[in-house]
Amino acid sequence: MQTPSAKTVYVCQLCGFRSQKWLGRCPGCGEWNSFLTESDRPLRRVRNSSPVLEYPTVQQEKVERITTRNVEFDRVLGGGLVPGSLVLLGGEPGIGKSTLLLQIAESLSAQGLKTLYIAGEESIQQIKLRGERLGVQGRNLFLVAETSLEAIFTEVEALQPQILIVDSIQTVSTEKLESIPGTMGQVRECAAQFLSFAKQQNIAVFLIGHITKEGSLAGPKALEHIVDVVLYFEGDRHQNQKIVRAVKNRFGPSNELGIFEMSSRGLLCVENPSGLFLSERPESAAGSVVVCAMQGSRPILAELQALVSHSAYGTGRRMGNGVDPSRIALLLAMLEKRVGLQLSGSDIYVNVVGGLALQEPAIDLAVVAAIVSSFRNQPIGFRSVVFGEVGLAGEVRAVSFAQTRLKEALAMGFDWVMLPHGNLPLSGPVEPLRIQAVSSVQDAFDALF
Ligand code: TYD
Ligand code: MG
Repeated sequence: MQTPSAKTVYVCQLCGFRSQKWLGRCPGCGEWNSFLTESDRPLRRVRNSSPVLEYPTVQQEKVERITTRNVEFDRVLGGGLVPGSLVLLGGEPGIGKSTLLLQIAESLSAQGLKTLYIAGEESIQQIKLRGERLGVQGRNLFLVAETSLEAIFTEVEALQPQILIVDSIQTVSTEKLESIPGTMGQVRECAAQFLSFAKQQNIAVFLIGHITKEGSLAGPKALEHIVDVVLYFEGDRHQNQKIVRAVKNRFGPSNELGIFEMSSRGLLCVENPSGLFLSERPESAAGSVVVCAMQGSRPILAELQALVSHSAYGTGRRMGNGVDPSRIALLLAMLEKRVGLQLSGSDIYVNVVGGLALQEPAIDLAVVAAIVSSFRNQPIGFRSVVFGEVGLAGEVRAVSFAQTRLKEALAMGFDWVMLPHGNLPLSGPVEPLRIQAVSSVQDAFDALF
């Protein structure tokens, strides 16, 4: 451990908590051994004085967008790439970040947009090798192995690209700070400089950021408020389908999903996500139910599975994959209290198939239906879809986009939908779908089992 000088401050590498002393455990996020020293110089910002305007005189700028010619990537960006924007792409190592951005680099450069790819993680040869696999032609695509921020800016000045890809932000460092690359101070300062640079030069900049499970590197989480757009790869890297979610977008809707499939020639756009997520569904298996969830502007049908088994210990374990565990706990408490189900002695696992994370309350009814289906060992109809929010009193509450969800169920060949009574009357015909409207979980179970 270094002896702190007057200027030294300790910063948690995970959440950015600052302290005058070294601490074993971060009071901010609870992480152990996460403090490193960084010189406590304030981040310098470029300040241009700007005029004060009266509201009506403010000219609305039309946002021009560049298509990446990749349907799913354009979708997750909110309809294409905005020039001068700073986009962060985060995800676990090996999930496909470099692959995706090399494909996007090819597609943008093929349109005549000069693109510079900064290789900080891999050698130029390794990137070329990946490019060969992806069928990259690379006209207008330039590569440089560089990790100094100042040197990167010099290269950019010489080349004048319109697109810059930094792989990864954790390898870049500025001479202004003494700390090593990848530390919180470096990552934040470099990202902030890329932001003002992107705005001044009107260059679109992509930053790749690793998220490690151990959190040993400064997390891209700390950059979320700096950048314009935050995209994360969701799910785990072993599955073929790759989901990219916009968790923040200053130029478009957040929560939009891009769905890809990893192939031997890179990431392919998935045209029918519902079909993909339902492709391996078991027939007449207790605990399996199909839900229709809104993901951004798009309805997606997904299979929810629950497994309720007798616990070997007194208190049962509860695990959720793709469903918020605290939401599961709340729904289980409701089931015990309102429906009288004795679940405390059972282990309960809930899983969304395919690595999707579903966060809307509209999946509640499907979660309880899956749990009860497994508990009673009674399957739910194979061609049935269930959606609705569940309240603490066991009431089923109306959800938004009911008609959109029904259309998706219809398009995917389902024939029976259970939805909240509060969503009636429907705004249009949905024949030949049969509709079961319910106003309480008890009603729902009476209709399902
Ligand atoms: P990569 O893009 O290097 O991941 P990241 O940059 O997020 O660390 O690679 C992701 C994985 O994809 C890697 O295990 C190899 C695999 N892959 C394919 O299956 N097909 C391909 O065409 C390519 C280029 C990679
Ligand atoms: Mg990579």
